[in-house]
Amino acid sequence: MAVTDPARATRDPDPSVLVSPLPPPGSRLPRPVAGALFLFAPQLTLRLLQRRHGDVFSVWTPVFGEVAVATSPELVKRVFQASPEVLSFGETSPLGEILGQGSLFAMDGDRHLRERRLILPAFHGERMRGYEGVIEEEARREMAGWPEGEEFPTLPSFMRITLAAIVRTVFGAQGSDAAELADVLPPLVTIGSRIALLRPLRRDLGRWSPGGRFLRLRARYDAIVARLIDAGRADPELAGREDVMAMLMRAHYEDGSAMSRTAIADELLTLLAAGHETTATTLAWGVERLRRHPAVLERLVSEARSGEGRELRMATIHELQRSRPVIPATSRCARVDFPLGGWTVPRGRQIIVSVSLIHSDSRFFADPERFDPDRFITRGPDTYTWVPFGGGTRRCPGAAFAHMEMDIVLRTMLREFALAPTTRRGERRRDRGVANAPAKGGLAVVHRRPAG
Ligand code: HEM
Repeated sequence: MAVTDPARATRDPDPSVLVSPLPPPGSRLPRPVAGALFLFAPQLTLRLLQRRHGDVFSVWTPVFGEVAVATSPELVKRVFQASPEVLSFGETSPLGEILGQGSLFAMDGDRHLRERRLILPAFHGERMRGYEGVIEEEARREMAGWPEGEEFPTLPSFMRITLAAIVRTVFGAQGSDAAELADVLPPLVTIGSRIALLRPLRRDLGRWSPGGRFLRLRARYDAIVARLIDAGRADPELAGREDVMAMLMRAHYEDGSAMSRTAIADELLTLLAAGHETTATTLAWGVERLRRHPAVLERLVSEARSGEGRELRMATIHELQRSRPVIPATSRCARVDFPLGGWTVPRGRQIIVSVSLIHSDSRFFADPERFDPDRFITRGPDTYTWVPFGGGTRRCPGAAFAHMEMDIVLRTMLREFALAPTTRRGERRRDRGVANAPAKGGLAVVHRRPAG
């Protein structure tokens, strides 16, 4: 049985495009077995299903049940370009209950676009340059404590740098407020990411239960943000402040109204949750990969120390994000029966764009297992085969910020330290809740370069 895909027929003059009303095919294993396989070996499970069924298939997942998976640029484009009335994100996301209803992650449709419009100017290219000094200062401060000649995991260090960077550039906080935010935010996000997918854990069963701890931390966080907002309102310099909080305090929706305190608090927490661990884990992968690719490392050191350009550094960041995407997939929810790759994804079902499968596919990247930044020097990344930041109207608004931050932190590290290469096996991936990190935290051995 086959029908013409109406969504395609409107754009595609070829009327022979046929679509089955059936959902994409998937595993025939019993659900508990399929779910366990997906849980313990997601990458392998998806790869095997792709080999068997092609670029769109179904898989049973413990949290979302049956989902459709898209693994080719054509399908990814269709998913990212679909309107929010057809494929939504926020309304089915559990993140709204964790980050608050004022979080971008919790919104869809017009409300989401309005809110994005308020936030995007804060992450515009020009503005990023103003933040570079802060990032370098934080990187230097943290790296001053790095031990010489002994192995240590770099991830905790990178987590502190990216946290301090967001506390200063996003919250505009200093002194005791900055210290308290740095104390509250990491456990708030860690516990939040753990309880996000398991509703029973969100209940407040006292101060030691995950739900109870989360609510108490959130109350402390709200109190700090309220204080920062009050201080901002009383600040005669507010108009000249560069941080995102000040921008949001000055911003107005199209009807002239300003953002409420809760909306600002939810949005800032969202930026922190989305931008802190993702950037730090990518940097830790940087250390992990570069120690195993000494020729690339040597070229990067020459580039950083010469002070001329950053072409190879940016290509390396692109290659890191291709080969070790810290968010392995992004999703949408079908609000109508959605034709995809010849099948129909039933209304209500999640569609997953598998970032890791696309990035490791030899059809799109020659010799995909090879770590090779040069592949991004002659040709920049393509919109639908390089998707670590997702795409469409939900594409990561912090992408330019993340790139600027990784560029500056890597440059500082390469200039100040000699990173010892290793022939040891690469670190495996470990899911930390928000992002995938190197299992040993990106182990490094460094020696400080003599000054000058
Ligand atoms: C290497 C670092 C980062 C990675 C890999 C990353 C990845 C992503 C991905 C995959 C999405 C979902 C996109 C989609 O579904 O199409 C996303 C959304 C988002 N990211 Fe990032 N991100 C990073 C850094 C940041 C930073 C630094 C910030 C802000 C300071 C940020 C803020 C956000 C926000 C607010 C959203 C929600 C966008 C929306 O729903 O409209 N991210 N990010």
